[in-house]
Amino acid sequence: MGHRSPVTRKKLLAFLFVGFVAGLGLGFVFMGTLHAFIEIGASKHHHEGQSAAEQQALPAAVEQKGGTAATVVAAAGGASGWPTTGETVHIAYTSNGSPYTNYQNLVMYGTYKLAQKMPGGDKMVGFTRILHRTTHDALSPRVPTFLATPLHPECDAWCDYPVADRPNAIRQFLDAAVADPSMIKAPWLYMIETDFVFVGPFSMPPAESSAKSVAFPYGYIQPTYPTIEGVMRKLYPESEGPLEDIPPTGPSPTCMRMAEWLRIAPRYEQVTKQIEEDEEAKKALDWVREMYAFSVAAALEKIPLDMHEPPDSVTMIQPPADAGMGKAHLMHYTWGAVFNHPNGTKLWEFDKRFYTELEHEQQLPKIPPPPPFEEGWTLQDGLPVPRPLYDVIALMILTMNAGIDVIKAEGLA
Ligand SMILES: *[C@@H]1O[C@H](CO)[C@@H](O)[C@H](O)[C@H]1NC(C)=O
Repeated sequence: MGHRSPVTRKKLLAFLFVGFVAGLGLGFVFMGTLHAFIEIGASKHHHEGQSAAEQQALPAAVEQKGGTAATVVAAAGGASGWPTTGETVHIAYTSNGSPYTNYQNLVMYGTYKLAQKMPGGDKMVGFTRILHRTTHDALSPRVPTFLATPLHPECDAWCDYPVADRPNAIRQFLDAAVADPSMIKAPWLYMIETDFVFVGPFSMPPAESSAKSVAFPYGYIQPTYPTIEGVMRKLYPESEGPLEDIPPTGPSPTCMRMAEWLRIAPRYEQVTKQIEEDEEAKKALDWVREMYAFSVAAALEKIPLDMHEPPDSVTMIQPPADAGMGKAHLMHYTWGAVFNHPNGTKLWEFDKRFYTELEHEQQLPKIPPPPPFEEGWTLQDGLPVPRPLYDVIALMILTMNAGIDVIKAEGLA
């Protein structure tokens, strides 16, 4: 990020977050809380390094909890269950089976297959879509799928916050894996989302080592922000410790050992339920409340998470906020990108919200790539488009289209 000062980067992130929330809102009214979130983003003075949870890591408490988890694993997995040693990862993610997520899902699955063929790709040994829906959908025969019973059946067609069902769906998946450990192919479970692109393979240090689990630090998750203190204290009472314990993260991209997922899942579900039943909490935490629920659950369970911003993030980058892969292997396209000519003409644009219809899921159209690079372009917020940023976005579109080719070649489209 050497080409941008921290101030302009923050401005960009705040700007992009408007688009992010606008997209999530899909036409709903949210301006009041949006303002609060922009303030949160603008007030951020954090820096990477250790997360709050890491700084607060209490070896004694972890060992105590770890004993509980180990007992669970011995009963559920262990020698006769899922693997508990090694560097391999099992990838999972949730979906409600809407055309919007299914288009993204097929593209992502294609890029996963590409990354699997790269050197090191053999460490990605499991892949499960957790479908929270009343029935299987068109992707079920084509993508490895676990069907979870939805808390909100109306989300099959439409609902305003489908991710409220995510923690419960993950817990159902874990319960099923405890009953049938062969569902889990690796010691590490890596939760991702459908709007991710695999640019390279992923693996973890040996699970039997003391390596910490990995999560992503989100700039717009601010557990210590003063205006949400009251709400955060309902979720994480003073008796638990300072709010700084709560890592600014979410369930994805998050890679933890199975024992840690088993510990966190019931908490994550319970905190989500607590928020959904509390109008004040829902309003204050808004569209990212399920991410806050996960963050609070991680703090309550005292799970140490290794979190670094790009370029040190080993999980993802989020173009156009990040202009280089750094150590990451995934790209997350939650924000769109616009390239404008210096005269103001829009030259090119990509946004995931252009691909929401059943015909997109069924026909899997390719994404028009950007025109050849020229100096002087600007992004949607007026910031320049330096060559490295162009290259990252062009690579993302190229990879997505290559993923579409794989899906079609394998007859999965
Ligand atoms: C701006 O530049 C583009 C690309 O060169 C060109 O196609 C367009 O006609 C120009 N528009 C104006 C208003 O000059």
